[in-house]
Amino acid sequence: MNTSTDTRPPRSGYWADAGVFLWSWLRSPGKTGAVLPSSSYLAAAMSEVLTGYEKPTVAELGPGTGALTAGIQQRLAGNGRHVAVELNGEFAERLALRFPQVEVVNDSAADLVRLLTERGVGKVDAVVSGLPFAAFPVGLQTAVLDAVAAAVCPDGGVFTTFNYVGAYSMPAAKRFRALLAERFAEITISRPVMRNLPPAHVLTARRVRV
Ligand SMILES: C[S@@+](CC[C@H](N)C(=O)[O-])C[C@H]1O[C@@H](n2cnc3c(N)ncnc32)[C@H](O)[C@@H]1O
Repeated sequence: MNTSTDTRPPRSGYWADAGVFLWSWLRSPGKTGAVLPSSSYLAAAMSEVLTGYEKPTVAELGPGTGALTAGIQQRLAGNGRHVAVELNGEFAERLALRFPQVEVVNDSAADLVRLLTERGVGKVDAVVSGLPFAAFPVGLQTAVLDAVAAAVCPDGGVFTTFNYVGAYSMPAAKRFRALLAERFAEITISRPVMRNLPPAHVLTARRVRV
């Protein structure tokens, strides 16, 4: 963690964030899971799942430098509640300074239920994930998806994540989608969002299997 007493928000913007992100990827490629942050186009496409909720409670997983966080905040427009769970301490610290209205938690998404309970949150309306599921071993994919299924409202709740087009057919990505289908009865996969590096499909899952 940074021990500096400077509490000014860090410099942000796509390319400033990209530098921080690339540095994190070089140090820990498996955990960072991408070379560049998501684009505002992918963030907008994923945040569409929040349409129709008046004051939703949103859990964001793996917010990184805040690309999806910004999209979610734009959609919330001052309403609802937004808890963001980020494993990387440096990202979590930057995020908390940049988005004081977001409850940033420096911990693992696998512990989502406990983290929400500690904050007095029961079920959430939406889980928006930027986690690199295709880079996760099966144990972590399962643990996070179990936590998501337990945290999201069984009927009206929604879970969204993305799959990079190039990684879509990888065994770990296929396994992730199979695990997702075991837990949610309704899954939609978007056409690729091309204005993202690399292009990505948005996966949206509803109706938790109980
Ligand atoms: C592919 S990046 C996506 C970042 C951002 N959401 C975006 O779309 O630009 C994945 C993020 O997930 C974080 N992460 C990896 N494993 C995690 C875990 N178990 N719990 C929470 N965050 C995790 C990484 O530190 C990284 O910030």
